[in-house]
Amino acid sequence: MSTDSQPGRPPYRPATVAVTSGRPPHEPDNPLNEPLTMASTFVAGGEVEYGRYGNPTWAAFEQALGDLEGGRCLAFASGLAAVATILDLVGNGARVVAPRHAYNGSLLQLADLEARGRAHAQLVDVTDTEAVAKACDDAALVWLESPTNPALEVADIPAIAEAAHEAGAYVVVDNTFATPLLQQPLSLGADVVVHSATKFIAGHSDVLMGAVATADDQLYDVLKKRRDMIGATPGTLEAWLALRGLRTLHVRLERAQANAQELVRRLGEHPAIGEVRYPGFGAIVSVVLEQGALAADLLTHKTKLWVHATSLGGVESTFERRRRWKTEPATIPEGLVRLSVGIEDVDDLWDDLATALDDLTG
Ligand SMILES: Cc1ncc(COP(=O)(O)O)c(C=O)c1O
Repeated sequence: MSTDSQPGRPPYRPATVAVTSGRPPHEPDNPLNEPLTMASTFVAGGEVEYGRYGNPTWAAFEQALGDLEGGRCLAFASGLAAVATILDLVGNGARVVAPRHAYNGSLLQLADLEARGRAHAQLVDVTDTEAVAKACDDAALVWLESPTNPALEVADIPAIAEAAHEAGAYVVVDNTFATPLLQQPLSLGADVVVHSATKFIAGHSDVLMGAVATADDQLYDVLKKRRDMIGATPGTLEAWLALRGLRTLHVRLERAQANAQELVRRLGEHPAIGEVRYPGFGAIVSVVLEQGALAADLLTHKTKLWVHATSLGGVESTFERRRRWKTEPATIPEGLVRLSVGIEDVDDLWDDLATALDDLTG
């Protein structure tokens, strides 16, 4: 089924949408790609007027990602700029239900709202659907991440969305780990999807960008007004690069996911690994080292191919021990290493990891 909303197009499947959406019309001498429009201002009397309200290069990116998510998209300066813009919409004293394990930047924003008396956050285990449904009572917003970063827990989005809507709460899903190719939260009942486009969407570890998508025109207008008012807008080059990355998302993800699945199998058999966490799809894997934090730190410093780096979703394989960050929730095991599996040859990835892991077990 196609999500491409451009008029006159046949109902393309997602891979074709990723390649074709957001391009200039097929007319003689039009470029195939939307050019970089470097402009802070536009001639008055049109629709854009000023560079904070819109840009044709962003619009091309927004068209393509919106078509993939099944809604209208807005590009942001970063994933956290998108998160902040959404969270800022909750009323004073509102209750926000959120995962106890989620990207720590999003959790920090919630803690900050709480500290300033702006909102009350109730942290839940997103895999306990009944508990989440109960927590929805009196909530204004249910924030989900699925799979969660870095615990890789999966939420039952349709069941939670139903409970949230019954309670009158909006549902936001951070879809960064799954991408619209593996999960389309709007079709599962979510009101808003949020992305760190920095990750799989841009895909080359060279861009910071965020995005939201919604099928609700009123929410779209509110979010756009807020984004434009606070200036949480992306640079033009960033939007151009993110769209260039999006064109190959399906190919990169297919390869990275296949690599991840093979590594999950091999890691599960290694004696240094106590636990492998993998939701069954995607290219992020978390492992818990039997010997805890020290072993995990040693692992991330011993490899030659795997890069010790935060962030994820690039073509190159990266990993890190998440608890090295003091802001990571204490319920994440000290020895948990989050692996972002890239598109290299899986045997090279395994040889490098196995050599470092063998060293740990002596
Ligand atoms: C799941 C998730 N959401 C949001 C963010 C924040 O995105 P950004 O770094 O683009 O601000 C991240 C960053 O790691 C993330 O992993």
